[in-house]
Amino acid sequence: MKQIVIEGGHPLKGTITISGAKNSAVALVPASLLCDEQVTIDHVPDISDIDALEEMLEYLGAQVKREDGTIEIDASKIQNKEIPEHISKKLRASYYFMGALLGKYKVATMYFPGGCPIGARPINFHLKGFEALGAHVIEEGNKYTIQAEELKGNNIYLDMPSVGATINIMLAAVKAKGTTTIENAACEPEIVNVATFLNNMGAKIKGAGTSTIIIKGVTYLHHAYTEVIPDRIEAGTYLLAGALLGEDVTVQNVIPEHILSLLQKLKQMGVPMKLEGDTIHIRKGNHLKPVVITTGVFPGFPTDLQQPITTLLTQCEGISEVTETIYENRFLNTKYLNHMGASIHGKGSDKIQIKGPTPLVGKTVKATDLRAGACLVLAGLVAQGTTTIQEVEHVLRGYENIIEKLSGIGAKIRLEEIK
Ligand code: EPU
Repeated sequence: MKQIVIEGGHPLKGTITISGAKNSAVALVPASLLCDEQVTIDHVPDISDIDALEEMLEYLGAQVKREDGTIEIDASKIQNKEIPEHISKKLRASYYFMGALLGKYKVATMYFPGGCPIGARPINFHLKGFEALGAHVIEEGNKYTIQAEELKGNNIYLDMPSVGATINIMLAAVKAKGTTTIENAACEPEIVNVATFLNNMGAKIKGAGTSTIIIKGVTYLHHAYTEVIPDRIEAGTYLLAGALLGEDVTVQNVIPEHILSLLQKLKQMGVPMKLEGDTIHIRKGNHLKPVVITTGVFPGFPTDLQQPITTLLTQCEGISEVTETIYENRFLNTKYLNHMGASIHGKGSDKIQIKGPTPLVGKTVKATDLRAGACLVLAGLVAQGTTTIQEVEHVLRGYENIIEKLSGIGAKIRLEEIK
């Protein structure tokens, strides 16, 4: 078990460089299974979610070489066998093995994925999409066997623009016969990253990044190279650290268009910021104004930044409001923020009100999920005294070198192994 210990209240100054996006990398790595030759992916973040995917690839017999953020994968000669539950439940993105293996071998057998306990997170849209392509799904408890004689393109309408379902159906359809159209597709930048990678291999995908994606099936995918896009959620998290404590914090390797909704809210609050290409300079603001935030699909306010921004809202002067529309259970962080001195009240199951400003004080708290952990790291940075965050394995799944990056700009933060 690991915990993060933070001595709060130290000003932050310096530069942080953003790593490759977790939610892109965890789809690009499984997408490599579809390739009939070797692929190379650059800027892969060094996080435990990628370790778990590497384990899955090696379990199937793929050749994997990972060094300094570059991963070379040759999955041309794997053995497509059942993936055990203890591996698939290590992370949410293990579900991309379903689409990739089905797309290439017409059969995938594995278990329900893991991931943060932020809601029920069913995979019914993924399975309905596979069925629309001609697959038959057998469910035995947690185990899914998805198989097809032949995959045939179809028109698929998603009831919700789910990121995972959009990517998974894309993976399954790339080698299907004929044309697949995904309507009401998710538009997140991670989807464009995956479609570009597949097109680099010779796939024929158009419209990624819009709500209609058209995929013309091909029979062979050749070697290809791609880079993981910068992590917009990591960028947002460090911008929030800068807004809380920055004397002068520079966050570089950011695509500002990917976080416009966050930048807009910071502007409304009165946080001093300057944009220069892929770099954002940010400082702590005084007398921050409260704001109203509703999470939404891209380009709306990302649910993954909802918990981290709540820490900043505790420092705004007045009542802020956050409505969560994507997940049923993404306010587990608020109990711990209140324990540290915040004044947050639930308004029904999907809304909270945050009354600020409230000084925060260091306490022992728990990272119940990845972004709750990020929220508590930010709280620990701004709190007076020492904060101990337990169960930070969740945080290490998604933030590359978080201790080094924050220490590098002046935070007093360390990782401890506990028995
Ligand atoms: N949903 C269904 N059925 C489905 C699929 C989704 O009902 O078959 C519902 C979910 O329960 C949820 C909503 O649709 O209420 C959105 O889910 P979506 O499929 O878009 O999310 P996801 O693919 O499971 C990815 C990220 C999440 C991020 C969301 C939204 C990965 C591995 N995960 O999840 O990232 O919150 O998209 O942007 O890419 C995180 O990084 O902390 C994280 C949770």
